[in-house]
Amino acid sequence: MKNKEIKVEDLEPRRFVNEKTEEILAMVGGDLCINALSGGVDSSVVTMLGHEALGDRVKTYFINNGLMREGEPEQVVTVFKNLGVNVEIVDAQKSFFDALQGITDPEEKREAITQTFYRDVFGKLVQECGAKFLLQGTILTDVDETVAGIKRQHNILAQLGIDPEREFGYDVIEPLLQLRKDGVREVGKALGLPESVYNRPPFPGPALAARVIGEVTPERIAVVRQATAIVEEELKDTPAFQCMAILHEDRVTGMREGKREFGLQIEIRSWESKDARVATPTRLSYDLLEQLSARITGEVSGVVSVTYNITKKPPSTMEVV
Ligand code: XMP
Repeated sequence: MKNKEIKVEDLEPRRFVNEKTEEILAMVGGDLCINALSGGVDSSVVTMLGHEALGDRVKTYFINNGLMREGEPEQVVTVFKNLGVNVEIVDAQKSFFDALQGITDPEEKREAITQTFYRDVFGKLVQECGAKFLLQGTILTDVDETVAGIKRQHNILAQLGIDPEREFGYDVIEPLLQLRKDGVREVGKALGLPESVYNRPPFPGPALAARVIGEVTPERIAVVRQATAIVEEELKDTPAFQCMAILHEDRVTGMREGKREFGLQIEIRSWESKDARVATPTRLSYDLLEQLSARITGEVSGVVSVTYNITKKPPSTMEVV
Protein backbone atom coordinates (compact mmCIF):
# COMPACT_ATOMS: atom_id res chain seq x y z
CA MET A 1 0.00 0.00 0.00
CA LYS A 2 1.08 3.60 -0.61
CA ASN A 3 2.88 5.32 2.25
CA LYS A 4 3.41 8.93 1.16
CA GLU A 5 1.90 11.27 3.76
CA ILE A 6 -1.53 12.79 3.03
CA LYS A 7 -1.84 15.96 5.09
CA VAL A 8 -5.30 16.63 6.55
CA GLU A 9 -5.69 19.76 4.40
CA ASP A 10 -5.12 17.68 1.23
CA LEU A 11 -7.31 14.76 2.30
CA GLU A 12 -10.56 14.03 0.48
CA PRO A 13 -12.04 11.52 2.95
CA ARG A 14 -14.60 9.85 0.64
CA ARG A 15 -12.07 9.50 -2.16
CA PHE A 16 -9.59 8.03 0.35
CA VAL A 17 -12.22 5.49 1.48
CA ASN A 18 -12.96 4.44 -2.12
CA GLU A 19 -9.28 4.10 -2.97
CA LYS A 20 -8.47 2.08 0.16
CA THR A 21 -11.44 -0.26 -0.13
CA GLU A 22 -10.33 -1.05 -3.71
CA GLU A 23 -6.76 -1.65 -2.55
CA ILE A 24 -7.91 -3.92 0.31
CA LEU A 25 -10.10 -5.90 -2.07
CA ALA A 26 -7.25 -6.25 -4.57
CA MET A 27 -4.90 -7.55 -1.86
CA VAL A 28 -7.29 -9.96 -0.17
CA GLY A 29 -8.88 -11.31 -3.35
CA GLY A 30 -11.17 -14.21 -2.42
CA ASP A 31 -9.39 -14.93 0.89
CA LEU A 32 -10.36 -14.21 4.50
CA CYS A 33 -9.08 -11.40 6.64
CA ILE A 34 -9.19 -10.71 10.38
CA ASN A 35 -8.78 -7.54 12.38
CA ALA A 36 -8.44 -6.50 16.00
CA LEU A 37 -10.71 -3.76 17.24
CA SER A 38 -9.62 -1.97 20.42
CA GLY A 39 -12.26 0.74 20.11
CA GLY A 40 -9.62 3.43 19.54
CA VAL A 41 -9.94 5.78 16.57
CA ASP A 42 -7.46 3.99 14.29
CA SER A 43 -8.72 0.46 14.80
CA SER A 44 -12.35 1.61 14.58
CA VAL A 45 -11.70 3.30 11.23
CA VAL A 46 -9.86 0.28 9.88
CA THR A 47 -12.68 -2.02 11.02
CA MET A 48 -15.24 0.05 9.10
CA LEU A 49 -12.98 0.22 6.03
CA GLY A 50 -12.50 -3.54 6.13
CA HIS A 51 -16.22 -4.21 6.39
CA GLU A 52 -16.96 -1.77 3.60
CA ALA A 53 -14.40 -3.51 1.38
CA LEU A 54 -14.92 -7.15 2.32
CA GLY A 55 -18.26 -7.52 4.09
CA ASP A 56 -18.41 -10.90 5.83
CA ARG A 57 -14.94 -11.87 4.65
CA VAL A 58 -13.40 -9.83 7.47
CA LYS A 59 -13.81 -11.12 10.99
CA THR A 60 -13.36 -8.64 13.83
CA TYR A 61 -12.01 -9.52 17.27
CA PHE A 62 -11.63 -7.57 20.48
CA ILE A 63 -8.56 -8.94 22.23
CA ASN A 64 -9.13 -8.69 25.96
CA ASN A 65 -5.50 -8.41 27.03
CA GLY A 66 -6.43 -7.52 30.61
CA LEU A 67 -4.87 -4.10 30.11
CA MET A 68 -7.94 -2.19 28.95
CA ARG A 69 -9.95 0.45 30.78
CA GLU A 70 -13.04 -0.13 32.92
CA GLY A 71 -15.90 -1.74 30.96
CA GLU A 72 -14.09 -1.27 27.63
CA PRO A 73 -14.64 -4.70 26.01
CA GLU A 74 -18.43 -4.59 26.49
CA GLN A 75 -18.70 -0.92 25.40
CA VAL A 76 -16.80 -1.52 22.17
CA VAL A 77 -18.84 -4.58 21.26
CA THR A 78 -22.10 -2.66 21.82
CA VAL A 79 -21.07 0.39 19.77
CA PHE A 80 -20.10 -1.77 16.80
CA LYS A 81 -23.16 -3.99 17.10
CA ASN A 82 -25.21 -0.83 16.57
CA LEU A 83 -23.14 -0.18 13.42
CA GLY A 84 -23.89 -3.67 12.12
CA VAL A 85 -20.44 -5.10 12.89
CA ASN A 86 -20.21 -8.29 14.89
CA VAL A 87 -17.21 -8.33 17.26
CA GLU A 88 -15.99 -11.43 19.06
CA ILE A 89 -14.19 -11.00 22.40
CA VAL A 90 -11.07 -13.15 22.84
CA ASP A 91 -9.94 -13.64 26.44
CA ALA A 92 -6.15 -13.44 26.27
CA GLN A 93 -5.51 -11.93 29.71
CA LYS A 94 -3.37 -14.80 30.95
CA SER A 95 -1.10 -14.80 27.88
CA PHE A 96 -0.35 -11.07 28.26
CA PHE A 97 0.23 -11.12 32.03
CA ASP A 98 2.45 -14.21 31.73
CA ALA A 99 4.50 -12.49 29.01
CA LEU A 100 4.85 -9.30 31.07
CA GLN A 101 5.84 -11.02 34.29
CA GLY A 102 9.09 -9.68 35.77
CA ILE A 103 9.71 -7.17 32.95
CA THR A 104 10.46 -3.58 33.93
CA ASP A 105 12.28 -2.15 30.87
CA PRO A 106 9.84 -0.13 28.70
CA GLU A 107 11.04 -1.46 25.34
CA GLU A 108 11.06 -5.04 26.63
CA LYS A 109 7.46 -4.58 27.79
CA ARG A 110 6.48 -3.31 24.35
CA GLU A 111 8.27 -6.24 22.71
CA ALA A 112 6.52 -8.75 25.01
CA ILE A 113 3.15 -7.25 24.09
CA THR A 114 3.97 -7.29 20.37
CA GLN A 115 5.05 -10.93 20.45
CA THR A 116 2.02 -12.03 22.46
CA PHE A 117 -0.33 -10.17 20.17
CA TYR A 118 1.09 -11.23 16.80
CA ARG A 119 2.53 -14.65 17.57
CA ASP A 120 0.37 -16.17 20.30
CA VAL A 121 -3.04 -14.56 19.92
CA PHE A 122 -3.24 -13.77 16.20
CA GLY A 123 -1.11 -16.71 15.11
CA LYS A 124 -3.70 -18.98 16.74
CA LEU A 125 -6.75 -17.08 15.46
CA VAL A 126 -5.43 -17.05 11.89
CA GLN A 127 -4.86 -20.81 12.01
CA GLU A 128 -8.29 -21.46 13.48
CA CYS A 129 -10.25 -19.44 10.94
CA GLY A 130 -8.01 -19.91 7.89
CA ALA A 131 -7.43 -16.17 7.31
CA LYS A 132 -4.44 -15.00 5.27
CA PHE A 133 -4.43 -11.32 6.27
CA LEU A 134 -4.50 -9.13 9.34
CA LEU A 135 -5.92 -5.68 8.77
CA GLN A 136 -4.53 -3.08 11.18
CA GLY A 137 -4.69 0.65 11.81
CA THR A 138 -1.03 1.67 11.91
CA ILE A 139 -0.69 5.42 11.25
CA LEU A 140 2.26 7.51 10.14
CA THR A 141 3.07 8.83 13.64
CA ASP A 142 3.50 5.23 14.88
CA VAL A 143 6.02 4.60 12.10
CA ASP A 144 7.91 7.88 12.66
CA GLU A 145 8.48 7.34 16.38
CA THR A 146 9.54 3.74 15.93
CA VAL A 147 11.91 4.45 13.05
CA ALA A 148 13.37 7.42 14.96
CA GLY A 149 14.11 5.00 17.81
CA ILE A 150 11.96 6.92 20.34
CA LYS A 151 9.49 4.13 21.09
CA ARG A 152 8.78 0.85 19.46
CA GLN A 153 5.06 1.20 18.76
CA HIS A 154 3.37 -2.14 19.32
CA ASN A 155 2.09 -2.42 15.75
CA ILE A 156 5.24 -1.74 13.71
CA LEU A 157 6.62 -4.71 11.80
CA ALA A 158 7.72 -4.14 8.18
CA GLN A 159 9.42 -0.83 8.99
CA LEU A 160 11.63 -2.74 11.45
CA GLY A 161 12.49 -5.34 8.81
CA ILE A 162 10.02 -7.91 10.22
CA ASP A 163 8.26 -9.99 7.58
CA PRO A 164 4.94 -10.96 9.25
CA GLU A 165 4.25 -13.69 6.68
CA ARG A 166 7.53 -15.44 7.52
CA GLU A 167 7.47 -14.68 11.29
CA PHE A 168 3.81 -15.23 12.08
CA GLY A 169 2.26 -16.90 9.02
CA TYR A 170 0.02 -14.10 7.73
CA ASP A 171 0.30 -10.82 5.84
CA VAL A 172 -0.54 -7.42 7.31
CA ILE A 173 -2.61 -4.75 5.53
CA GLU A 174 -2.25 -1.15 6.78
CA PRO A 175 -4.60 1.23 4.94
CA LEU A 176 -4.02 4.23 7.27
CA LEU A 177 -0.25 4.44 6.85
CA GLN A 178 -0.46 7.75 4.95
CA LEU A 179 -2.44 9.56 7.67
CA ARG A 180 -1.94 11.17 11.03
CA LYS A 181 -4.57 11.27 13.77
CA ASP A 182 -6.39 14.36 12.42
CA GLY A 183 -6.76 12.72 9.00
CA VAL A 184 -7.94 9.43 10.52
CA ARG A 185 -10.71 11.30 12.35
CA GLU A 186 -11.92 12.82 9.05
CA VAL A 187 -12.03 9.38 7.43
CA GLY A 188 -13.93 8.01 10.45
CA LYS A 189 -16.53 10.73 10.01
CA ALA A 190 -16.87 9.93 6.30
CA LEU A 191 -17.36 6.26 7.15
CA GLY A 192 -20.34 7.08 9.38
CA LEU A 193 -18.75 6.37 12.74
CA PRO A 194 -20.42 8.21 15.64
CA GLU A 195 -18.58 11.33 16.82
CA SER A 196 -17.95 9.68 20.20
CA VAL A 197 -15.76 7.20 18.28
CA TYR A 198 -14.03 9.29 15.58
CA ASN A 199 -13.28 12.10 18.06
CA ARG A 200 -12.36 9.75 20.88
CA PRO A 201 -9.10 10.65 22.65
CA PRO A 202 -6.33 8.30 21.51
CA PHE A 203 -5.44 5.29 23.62
CA PRO A 204 -2.17 3.39 23.08
CA GLY A 205 -1.96 -0.14 21.69
CA PRO A 206 -0.13 -1.43 24.81
CA ALA A 207 -3.09 0.05 26.72
CA LEU A 208 -2.65 0.59 30.46
CA ALA A 209 0.72 -1.21 30.33
CA ALA A 210 2.03 2.03 28.74
CA ARG A 211 1.06 3.75 32.01
CA VAL A 212 2.69 1.48 34.58
CA ILE A 213 6.31 2.18 35.50
CA GLY A 214 7.91 -1.07 36.63
CA GLU A 215 6.33 -4.52 36.50
CA VAL A 216 2.86 -4.89 34.95
CA THR A 217 0.75 -7.19 37.12
CA PRO A 218 -3.04 -7.62 37.35
CA GLU A 219 -2.96 -5.83 40.72
CA ARG A 220 -0.96 -2.85 39.43
CA ILE A 221 -3.18 -2.59 36.34
CA ALA A 222 -6.23 -2.53 38.62
CA VAL A 223 -4.77 0.51 40.43
CA VAL A 224 -4.04 2.45 37.25
CA ARG A 225 -7.42 1.44 35.78
CA GLN A 226 -9.28 2.90 38.75
CA ALA A 227 -7.22 6.11 38.69
CA THR A 228 -7.74 6.39 34.91
CA ALA A 229 -11.51 6.19 35.32
CA ILE A 230 -11.37 9.08 37.82
CA VAL A 231 -9.09 11.23 35.65
CA GLU A 232 -11.21 10.65 32.53
CA GLU A 233 -14.42 11.40 34.41
CA GLU A 234 -13.14 14.58 36.06
CA LEU A 235 -11.54 15.92 32.86
CA LYS A 236 -14.30 14.91 30.42
CA ASP A 237 -15.33 18.54 29.85
CA THR A 238 -11.83 19.85 29.14
CA PRO A 239 -10.90 19.77 25.45
CA ALA A 240 -7.62 17.94 26.08
CA PHE A 241 -6.17 15.77 23.30
CA GLN A 242 -5.55 13.02 25.86
CA CYS A 243 -5.43 12.63 29.63
CA MET A 244 -4.11 9.78 31.72
CA ALA A 245 -3.08 8.40 35.10
CA ILE A 246 0.31 6.79 35.57
CA LEU A 247 1.39 4.44 38.33
CA HIS A 248 4.92 5.00 39.60
CA GLU A 249 7.25 2.30 40.80
CA ASP A 250 8.65 4.13 43.85
CA ARG A 251 6.66 4.14 47.03
CA VAL A 252 6.54 7.11 49.38
CA THR A 253 5.66 7.61 53.02
CA GLY A 254 2.16 8.87 53.56
CA MET A 255 -0.31 8.80 56.41
CA ARG A 256 -3.86 7.62 56.74
CA GLU A 257 -6.04 7.72 59.84
CA GLY A 258 -3.04 8.80 61.92
CA LYS A 259 -0.91 5.86 60.81
CA ARG A 260 2.11 5.65 58.52
CA GLU A 261 1.33 4.26 55.06
CA PHE A 262 4.21 3.49 52.70
CA GLY A 263 2.07 3.96 49.64
CA LEU A 264 1.74 4.34 45.90
CA GLN A 265 2.16 7.42 43.70
CA ILE A 266 -0.07 8.36 40.78
CA GLU A 267 0.98 10.95 38.23
CA ILE A 268 -1.68 12.71 36.15
CA ARG A 269 -0.97 13.92 32.62
CA SER A 270 -3.26 15.96 30.38
CA TRP A 271 -2.05 16.94 26.91
CA GLU A 272 -2.89 19.57 24.35
CA SER A 273 -1.81 18.43 20.90
CA LYS A 274 -2.89 18.29 17.27
CA ASP A 275 -1.17 15.19 16.03
CA ALA A 276 0.75 13.80 19.06
CA ARG A 277 4.13 14.79 17.62
CA VAL A 278 4.51 17.69 20.04
CA ALA A 279 2.32 18.35 23.07
CA THR A 280 1.86 20.78 25.96
CA PRO A 281 0.36 20.05 29.38
CA THR A 282 -3.16 21.47 29.87
CA ARG A 283 -3.28 24.45 32.27
CA LEU A 284 -5.75 22.75 34.59
CA SER A 285 -7.28 24.80 37.38
CA TYR A 286 -5.89 24.21 40.83
CA ASP A 287 -9.41 23.41 42.07
CA LEU A 288 -9.65 20.60 39.53
CA LEU A 289 -6.21 19.30 40.47
CA GLU A 290 -7.18 19.27 44.14
CA GLN A 291 -10.39 17.44 43.32
CA LEU A 292 -8.43 14.82 41.36
CA SER A 293 -5.99 14.36 44.20
CA ALA A 294 -8.76 14.02 46.78
CA ARG A 295 -10.66 11.46 44.73
CA ILE A 296 -7.64 9.36 43.77
CA THR A 297 -6.20 9.19 47.30
CA GLY A 298 -9.70 8.64 48.72
CA GLU A 299 -10.94 6.02 46.25
CA VAL A 300 -7.89 4.12 44.99
CA SER A 301 -6.61 1.85 47.69
CA GLY A 302 -2.94 2.36 48.62
CA VAL A 303 -2.37 5.69 46.85
CA VAL A 304 -0.91 8.40 49.10
CA SER A 305 0.55 10.83 46.55
CA VAL A 306 -0.78 12.47 43.36
CA THR A 307 1.32 14.70 41.09
CA TYR A 308 0.67 16.59 37.84
CA ASN A 309 3.17 16.54 34.97
CA ILE A 310 4.11 20.02 33.67
CA THR A 311 6.71 18.98 31.08
CA LYS A 312 6.14 19.45 27.35
CA LYS A 313 6.71 16.80 24.66
CA PRO A 314 9.62 16.94 23.85
CA PRO A 315 11.55 16.21 26.04
CA SER A 316 8.71 14.21 27.66
CA THR A 317 6.71 11.73 25.64
CA MET A 318 2.97 11.45 26.21
CA GLU A 319 2.89 7.95 27.68
CA VAL A 320 5.55 6.90 30.23
CA VAL A 321 6.48 3.56 28.72
P1 XMP B 1 4.08 9.07 22.93
O1 XMP B 1 4.06 8.44 24.29
O2 XMP B 1 4.92 8.33 21.94
O3 XMP B 1 2.58 8.98 22.40
O4 XMP B 1 4.42 10.54 22.97
C1 XMP B 1 2.13 9.61 21.24
C2 XMP B 1 0.73 9.13 20.94
O5 XMP B 1 0.77 7.78 20.52
C3 XMP B 1 0.04 6.95 21.44
N1 XMP B 1 0.85 5.74 21.62
C4 XMP B 1 0.61 4.60 20.97
N2 XMP B 1 -0.35 4.27 20.11
N3 XMP B 1 0.60 2.11 19.92
C5 XMP B 1 -0.37 3.01 19.59
O6 XMP B 1 -1.26 2.67 18.82
C6 XMP B 1 1.59 2.35 20.78
O7 XMP B 1 2.44 1.52 21.05
C7 XMP B 1 1.59 3.68 21.33
N4 XMP B 1 2.41 4.30 22.22
C8 XMP B 1 1.93 5.56 22.36
C9 XMP B 1 -0.09 7.76 22.71
O8 XMP B 1 -1.23 7.37 23.47
C10 XMP B 1 -0.19 9.17 22.15
O9 XMP B 1 -1.50 9.46 21.67
